[in-house]
Order: sequence, then C-alpha cells, then structure tokens
Amino acid sequence: MRVLSLIRSRFAPVLAAWIDDPTALLAALDRIVPSREVQHADYQANVAMPLQKKLGKPPLAIAEEIVSQVDLSDICSSVTIAGQGYVNLRLSPKWIAACLTEAFADLERLAVTKVAVPKTVVIDFSSPNVAKPMHVGHIRSTVIGDSIAKILKFLGHNVITDNHLGDWGTQFGMIIYGYKHFRDDDAFAKAPVAELSRLYRMVQNIIGYQNALGNIPKLELALPKAEQKVALAKQKSDASPKDKKLAKEVANAENQVREAHDELVKAKESVAESQHNPAFLAVANAHPDLNSRVLRETSKLHEGDAENIKLWEDFLPNCKAEIHSVYRRLNVQFDYEYGESYYHDLLPGVVEDLLARSLAVQSDGAICLFLDGYEAPMIVRKQDGAYLYATTDIATAVFREREFEPDVSLYVVDHRQSEHFQKLFDVLRKIGINHTELNHVCFGTVLGNDGKPFKTRSGTVVGLESLLDEAVERAWQVVCNPDRLNSSGVEFTEQAKRTIAETVGIGAIKYADLSHNRTSNYIFDMDKMVQLEGNTAAYIQYSYARTRSILRKAESEGTTSDQLNSAMLDLVAGPELTLGLQLLRFEDMLTQSMCDYLPNMVTEYLFETARMFSSFYEQCPVLKAESPETVLSRLRLTDLTGLTLKKGLELLGIGTVERM
Ligand code: ARG
Repeated sequence: MRVLSLIRSRFAPVLAAWIDDPTALLAALDRIVPSREVQHADYQANVAMPLQKKLGKPPLAIAEEIVSQVDLSDICSSVTIAGQGYVNLRLSPKWIAACLTEAFADLERLAVTKVAVPKTVVIDFSSPNVAKPMHVGHIRSTVIGDSIAKILKFLGHNVITDNHLGDWGTQFGMIIYGYKHFRDDDAFAKAPVAELSRLYRMVQNIIGYQNALGNIPKLELALPKAEQKVALAKQKSDASPKDKKLAKEVANAENQVREAHDELVKAKESVAESQHNPAFLAVANAHPDLNSRVLRETSKLHEGDAENIKLWEDFLPNCKAEIHSVYRRLNVQFDYEYGESYYHDLLPGVVEDLLARSLAVQSDGAICLFLDGYEAPMIVRKQDGAYLYATTDIATAVFREREFEPDVSLYVVDHRQSEHFQKLFDVLRKIGINHTELNHVCFGTVLGNDGKPFKTRSGTVVGLESLLDEAVERAWQVVCNPDRLNSSGVEFTEQAKRTIAETVGIGAIKYADLSHNRTSNYIFDMDKMVQLEGNTAAYIQYSYARTRSILRKAESEGTTSDQLNSAMLDLVAGPELTLGLQLLRFEDMLTQSMCDYLPNMVTEYLFETARMFSSFYEQCPVLKAESPETVLSRLRLTDLTGLTLKKGLELLGIGTVERM
C-alpha cells in the first residue's frame, strides 16, 4: 500500500488552485513524512510553508485553507494544524485495517504494488577477482548488490544482474608465473584452487618484498625533503599566524612526513622479516624483478600465447567452481557472468574510438584521457600495449547499453574505487551514454575490533568459506544449545537444528553487513551479530518464528484457517494500532530505501517492526483476549506481522525457519 502517494494525491487538487505543478511540490521527500511525534499524528504534511511567498499569506492561514478543502475523510480520523502551519494527519484505524486486509488476498506481494513505469536496471555486483581467495570484503558487494536486486525486482523493475568477474587481470599473470616456477604437482592435483592461492600469495609476497627493497632508498631521500617542507611552511606560518591557508599547508606537510615515515617503517619491517627467512630470500633472489616477469606473463596471455591460454583455460573453471560454492552457500545467483575476459577483443576498438573522437591522446607512448577536475589521467592503453581495468569498463558499459538498454546502471563496488567510477562516468557521458542513470553504489571497509581492515590473527585476510562456517558454528551455540532448546519444550531433529544454525549463521553475516549504512565502514563482530537480542538477523528470525508458534498454538486450540481467513481486523488498543500502521508502511519504506539504494532502511524497519510486535504481544493478550473476535483479529495481526518480517528478510536474501 502506497500511503504517501495516496495522501499526496489528495493534496494535489487543493494546491492546484495556487500552483501549476503541485505534484512536483508534493514529491519532495520531506513534504509529507511519518510524524516523529506519534502522540499527535501519524503523518505530517509541510505543504503550507512552501506557498507562503507565492501567496503572500502566513502559513497558518494557508494551512487552514488547505485543511478546509482537502478531502481525506475516508483515510483519516483527524486532520489538524500544528505549529506554524504543519498539517497533522491521524489515519483512521478502520482504513488501516481495511488496507492490511488486502495483503491477505495477495500473500506473494502482501499488496505491494508494482511500479507503473518499470525501469531496466543493470546491477554489477560481487565481481571478485578470481584466482585470489575471496575474502570478507567480497561479502559487502555480494550481499548489498543482491538485496538491491531483489528489492528493485519486487517493486516491479526489470533487473539484470551481472557478476563482472576479474578473470583476465594481472592475478592470472601471477598464478601462471607461479605455476610455471613454483608449483607442487601433488597439491595441485588434490586441491587446485588451494594450490593456486598458495602460488598467488607466494608471488605477491616476493613482489611485495622486492618493491619494499627498491622503495627504501627512495623513501629515505623523500623523508628529509618532506621535513624540510614542514620547516619552510612553519616559518611562513609563524610569520603570519592568522593565515589559515598557511596553517593548513603546515598540517598538510606534516601529514606527508607522517605518511613517508610510516611507509619507510613498513618497508623496512617487511624487508627485515623476509631477511629472516633464507628459503624465501633464495627464491626471491632467483626471480629478480618479478613484477615485470608477471606482467610479461599477463601480456602473453592477452596476446594469445598458446601455453598461457591453455593454463588460463585450465585454471578458470576451478576458480569459478570455488566462488560458485560460496554463492551457493549465500544463495546468490546472477543473470550473467560475462567477466572481464569477455570484452578482450573489443578493447582495441574502444581505444580507436576514443582517439577518433579526440577524447584520448598519446602521452609518453600511452593512450590517455585527461579529464577536467582530476590530476591523474585515465590511461586506456599502456606504453607496452596493455589495456587496463578502465578500458574494459568502457567496453562493458558500451556493451550493456547495446544489449540491455538500461535506464539505470549500478556498480556496487568498494568506495576506494570512487575516482575510477567518476572518471568512467565522465567518459561514458562524453561518448554519448546520456540517458542512463550511472551510479557507483559504494560501500565502506569491513574493520576488525582494532579499527583496521578485518584480518585473522595470522595476519591474512579471512577466507570467506571459513568465515561462513564460523558464523554457523556460533549460531549453533547461541540458538541450538541444549539449555535453550530444552526450556522451549520443542524437540528438534539434528537436521532441523542444522537448518536453523545455517539460516541464522548466514543470515547473521548478511544482516550485520546490510544493517550498517553502506557508505560507512563497519566493525565485523561475530559475537554481536549472532545474538538473539538487538538489531540482528536472529532477533528478526526469532520474532517471525514466534508469530508462527502463536498461530500453531491457536490452531491446536481449535482455531480453523477458515475462521482466521474470514476474521475482521479491528485495531483498537495503542500497540495494535502502532503495529498496524507500521505494517502499512512496508511499501513506502521499500520504495524509499531504493532512492539511494540503502538496504539498511529495510533492516531498520524490520527491527522496529519486531520490537513493536514484542510490545504488542506483551501488552495485548492474543489467545487470551477478552472476546473471540479480538482473539481472531489479533491472530491476523500476528500473522501479517510474520509475513511482513519474512518478506522483508527474503528481500535481503535472508531465510527464516518456522520454529527456533
Ligand atoms: N574486480 C574488481 C575488484 O575486485 C571489481 C569490479 C567491479 N565492477 C566493475 N565493472 N568495475 O576490485
């Protein structure tokens, strides 16, 4: 049910007497809002203030005129004026009940309408670089992208999902080099992906060491220079202590010293650590300038070298099988999985086109685009002829335009790639992609308890599979522990318990991720996320199971489904009304959550709904209510609460169980 647009449609004809485009005025997100002062109103309309200038009257007088004309009699039990001219609306309990009743006739959609004009939305999400082990950072894109896809689809849009796998980049040069020089055949035969991961890490460590070694002299030179800069800036600033710009220069210069110093310390530490490991040193010294060797393997692959192509064709299915097992576990599917390699043959054409349009130019042998507002150019072909991530992204966008004709194109990718996407969108506009809303749906970093990017004790980024296992194990301890289950009086089979732990554990990880505003970093706290209390998946899942258990109890006491289905919803008591109003807002909440693609608005809603259900259940007896009609009405409200919680979780990609 779209409450907001219905209310807007009632104000529109009244405002039309004064302004040409009342719909635009009413569409502003802060025009008609759920009231924060619930004791006075359910909704508040700020429609008089914006007309003050135009009508040359005080808002109070305008509000009075509006209230005398607006026809909300069927929807509202009262329409009053508050403060300087706000219009306060109290919805009629009968109307709320009638709207909610509609949901029972449409269990699939709970009476959520489909948008009148569906948009074609392409969502690029998850998109890991295969051949590297997946890690906790990949959860964010996968889980956020999947929920946005589900919500938009549910609202009636035509959604196309594409997992833009990194299946063609330098990481393949790394594993090809590693495979040719360092492989353990037995290990590869037994567990190819584990061996490839080992090779990847080994090559990466050697490159890291060699880079650090090469950087130390440069950093040692840079540090005193940076310190000199600070001294100079300080001198100037001391001479004019009030000059804010100079003070800022000092701060900047000091920052640079700190950074150079930290980098130097890090490089020295990493070199010292490696030098304690003679076996590692021997290998590193036997493969000097490994970075260039790896790049050479990558270029050979891209040039079609038979041996490297053969290795790539051997490796890729194994790598894909590995990530698909994670997707199966997370229950995430994609419509397409073209991946970067798919666009390889289109890349020369992209560069030629950019040159022909005079958007790109030769610079030091590379082909670059110098874009307004950015220091660094976008490079689309390197000196050695190699194409880049950006080139592939341009080819991909052009392909998607042709293939899908999207109205909206979303890229659910780490915030660290913001500049890449700003530049990309800039270029796409220049080559004529003007009608598609291009949006980098960015997200922050997953942090450990120490506030640094989440890592295990051994210092490596956590493998995703083991993380999921751990969440399921913790969920088992919290939800399936014998004390808790024995006190619930229900017998659970082993299989049922395993299903509960899996549903709660995987749900916990997804929910924790989604419940933070995607743009901020969040602390990955396994203990917190599996709890049964608080803003967690388990709390919502438990609330759902509770609604089911109440309905089962009613059934066992003789309530038939016929009785329930024909019962009238009658919202009388405060907590009933609060809960009913909340359920009525489901569709508006979903719509609003997609204005900025924020699934955390859905988790907030579900958490609030579960809490309202809890107060309702505490304050309003259901099975022991005063009359049989009230019993049935409250059972229906319980039922609809459960259905809404379940649907909400489903749209976040989170499952439910009937008992827990
Ligand atoms: N593979 C990239 C990474 O792991 C993300 C790709 C995102 N999508 C895109 N079209 N650039 O960083």
